[in-house]
Amino acid sequence: MRKLFSFLFLVSLILSACGASTSTPVAEEITPVATEDTSPILYTDSSQPIEVRVEDLLKRMTLEEKIGQMTQVEKGSIQPGDITTYAIGSILSGGGGSPAKNTPQEWYTMVEGYQEEALATRLGIPLIYGVDAVHGHGNMQNATIFPHNIALGATNNPELVKAIGRATAEEILASGIPWNFAPVIAVVQDVRWGRTYEGFGEETALVTSLGTAYLEGMQTIQDGDVTSPGQTIFTLATPKHFLGDGATLWDSSNTEDYKLDQGNMQVPEEALRELYLPPYESAVDAGALNIMASFSSWKGTKMHAQEYLLTDVLKNELGFNGFIVSDWQAMDQIYPDDYYASIVTSVNAGVDMNMVPYDYVTFIETMKTAVDNGDIPEERIDDAVRRILRVKFSLGLFERPMPDVSLQKTVRSQEHLDLARQAVRESLVLLKNENDALPLSKETPVIFVAGQGANDLGLQSGGWTLEWQGKVGNQNEGTTILSGIRAAVSETSRVEFNSDGDFTEFTDEAGIPLIADVTFVVLAEKPYAEGVGDAANISLSNSEVKLLNDARQQSKTVVVILLSGRPRVITDELPLAEAWVAAWLPGTEGNGVADVLFGNYPFTGKTSYSWPRTNEQLPININNAKDKTGCDAPLFPFGYGLEYGESMPDILECK
Ligand code: GLC
Repeated sequence: MRKLFSFLFLVSLILSACGASTSTPVAEEITPVATEDTSPILYTDSSQPIEVRVEDLLKRMTLEEKIGQMTQVEKGSIQPGDITTYAIGSILSGGGGSPAKNTPQEWYTMVEGYQEEALATRLGIPLIYGVDAVHGHGNMQNATIFPHNIALGATNNPELVKAIGRATAEEILASGIPWNFAPVIAVVQDVRWGRTYEGFGEETALVTSLGTAYLEGMQTIQDGDVTSPGQTIFTLATPKHFLGDGATLWDSSNTEDYKLDQGNMQVPEEALRELYLPPYESAVDAGALNIMASFSSWKGTKMHAQEYLLTDVLKNELGFNGFIVSDWQAMDQIYPDDYYASIVTSVNAGVDMNMVPYDYVTFIETMKTAVDNGDIPEERIDDAVRRILRVKFSLGLFERPMPDVSLQKTVRSQEHLDLARQAVRESLVLLKNENDALPLSKETPVIFVAGQGANDLGLQSGGWTLEWQGKVGNQNEGTTILSGIRAAVSETSRVEFNSDGDFTEFTDEAGIPLIADVTFVVLAEKPYAEGVGDAANISLSNSEVKLLNDARQQSKTVVVILLSGRPRVITDELPLAEAWVAAWLPGTEGNGVADVLFGNYPFTGKTSYSWPRTNEQLPININNAKDKTGCDAPLFPFGYGLEYGESMPDILECK
């Protein structure tokens, strides 16, 4: 029977590879070889309650099969056949981990190949494939790339964020993937952190509201959804990184040359519970079934070793009954010189699945030794595997190991593009608007657009896009800020672009260099991710200031559009432009920027991060700036954002 199943599956693979619409044979056709247990097989019966299926399957599993379920391997490291050999429970794509041909079908075929190996195991337990689709399916080329969370925080629109979670779920399913390592629900206290843009903001209630909305968008099964019998969630979200990843102290990290990322948080437990735990409480109450542990530490102890927080608080006190996945090789950091002790400590602390991601054989052997030695109780193994199986049954993976290929039509669908464009519009924050420079008339005679960021989808998308660290250039489909401006203006308006801000080549009939009515200067941070983006100095660079000064020589009015993963120190440069707009990292639908610049839509965005006046002020946030006044106060407070017709308060003369 197993041979027949494999043959049928291979036939379906070949057919699906030819684009034929097939649905992968269902697990009911598996006739697992029962071990000594001769009780009727219930786990393959989708009419059974999930808990019955979990217990029935668990009791049939060998220790090796249980450890295999706790093992997550990076797709570039798994050897052909080893998913079956070791009964591996999960595969992931790290940042940039795409198939050679980066299309939805190639992703789907890649995942399907791994899944076929998992279904060929003795008990036919499907694997679960995970990816970082933190602002849309960023690894997949020509996906809809939504604004990063810092921008969504500025919208403070839970319904919008929920819809983005749903759209992201559809596009990862289109690629065969049911698990997204998102959302980050860090309550970010220091914007020098390279992951500031992955956070919704610095304030607990906002992060809680939007993080939960995103999770509901990813997991809620809606009418007409393509789901399996007994399936309770659409896709699996991963609130991360538990706990307090955004509250580390400067220069407390021991990882590479990172300063904040993976560092140490030193707050008392009262503050931990008041500021950083609520987003997780809300996520668990909303049905979170996976949570990723943080690389960071609390009071000098790695989160991956914090049994009190992982087990006593998250699992027992909050009632989290899903599984905790480690971060990338994070378990190894507990005792850098003692892998065995690291694994024992972390699994006993409550981590259920190890994102190994490379040397899975060593991990598996270490786990077996630890159980044989009695250092990891088999009850702990059973608890971890129970949680993992619960999630796989909840996703319907046993009935539908691969998603419906018809979801591929959702990738960059008009509905998703419109949603992304709406998010861009609602995320824009108007910082300054002297003499009502904005909204700009669509009949403006001469408009210059300066800065590489105006014409670069990679710069407007930021990290976690095509590559882990992001990728400058226009390898994705989408609309740039420049193309949005060109499309918005009337035919009588002349728009000229120069990335270096040199417009001397553009002259009037008499050959005299033109003076623009308005120059848009787009300033962009180079993309970064994680600790690579930790920065002590977040001021504008000399070249950015030069671009600004040059624009002033060639224009009656200057409008700055800031593309950044965090607030930047712009205090000294504010007078160099009549208007300043924070556009954050808008993703592929940059035309949303022009929608607001020309008045088709109002400015509604409010910054979800306190905006520092100087680098020396940092960290500054709503929690430590409450009683700060004058020059000690932020340049712009949390929740600041002008609407049309409003003027910036007199904040520069901070007496
Ligand atoms: C990274 C990140 C985590 C991500 C994981 C897999 O190091 O910390 O957010 O989900 O590895 O890419």
